[in-house]
Amino acid sequence: MNTETSIELTEDQIEFYANNGYIQIDNILSQVELDELTAITDELNEKIEAELPPMEERGAYDQVFLQVVNAWQRDERLCKFTQHPVLADVARQLLKASRVRLWHDHLMTKFPSKDGKPTTWHQDFPYWPMNEPGGMSIWIPMQDVDLANGCMSFVPGSHAWGVDETIDLSGMRGDDIFERVKDKPAHEVQRVYCPLKRGSVTFHDGRTFHYAGKNTSDEPRRVLSIIYMPDGTTYNGKPHALTDAIDDLKAGDAFSGDLFPVIG
Ligand code: SIN
Ligand code: NI
Repeated sequence: MNTETSIELTEDQIEFYANNGYIQIDNILSQVELDELTAITDELNEKIEAELPPMEERGAYDQVFLQVVNAWQRDERLCKFTQHPVLADVARQLLKASRVRLWHDHLMTKFPSKDGKPTTWHQDFPYWPMNEPGGMSIWIPMQDVDLANGCMSFVPGSHAWGVDETIDLSGMRGDDIFERVKDKPAHEVQRVYCPLKRGSVTFHDGRTFHYAGKNTSDEPRRVLSIIYMPDGTTYNGKPHALTDAIDDLKAGDAFSGDLFPVIG
C-alpha cells in the first residue's frame, strides 16, 4: 500500500484544474496497489458477467463497458481505494473544499472486441441528482492507456460553458454535445487526449466534456472511477437509481450518512 496520506498540490496545479476542468496527476498509486485493485476487479467482473445475458443481448449502454456501480459496497476490499486518503486529499485541494463525500464509485471495463464502442462525448453532472455542480470524477486506469485502448479525452474549459445536458451514452441516438457549442470559435473547442501510465490518474469536473475511445487492444481496459462531492452538496429531488430507495431524502437535503461517507 502507498504509505503516503497526502500530497501538496502546487498553486499551478490547482489553477490548471480551475481553468481547464480536469487535471492529470502522475504516479499517485503504487504498482502494488494497482495489482491488488486489478485482481479484485477481475473477480467482481467475473461474478457480474455470470449474471448478465450474452453481449449481443445486452442493452446498447451495457455494450459500451461492463460497469459495476458502488463496487465498494459489494467488496469491502475496495474501500481502501474508494476512500483512499491521497485521492481524497487531492480532491479536497482541487475543489477547495474543507471535506469531501463519496457520491459513488464505478468499475468500467472495456473488453477487447472488434465491435467495441467508444464512450460518447458527454458531461457527468447532468446525470447526478445534485443542486450544486462541485462534484468531480477520479479516473484510475489499471494499465497504461492511450488512444488504442480507450484513454480519456477532455475539452479544456468546457466545465465553465454553462452546458448541462444528458447525452445518450451508447451513441445509438447520435446525440452530439458539440452541437450545444457550435457558435463558439473552433479554436476554443479543443479535444485533448490524455494517455496515462499505470499509477497515474485524471480528475475531472462533472461538467467537463469528456470521451473515451473503444478498446482495440488485446487486453481488457480496466478503470475504477470515484466520484466525490464537496460536503454540503444537496439533493435536487430528481429520480436516480442510487437515491430512489432512500425514503427520508428530500429535495434540498444535504447528502449524508453511511451511503455517502465523508472521505477526508
Ligand atoms: C470510460 O472510461 O469509458 C468513460 C469514463 C467516464 O465517462 O467518466
Ligand atoms: Ni463520464
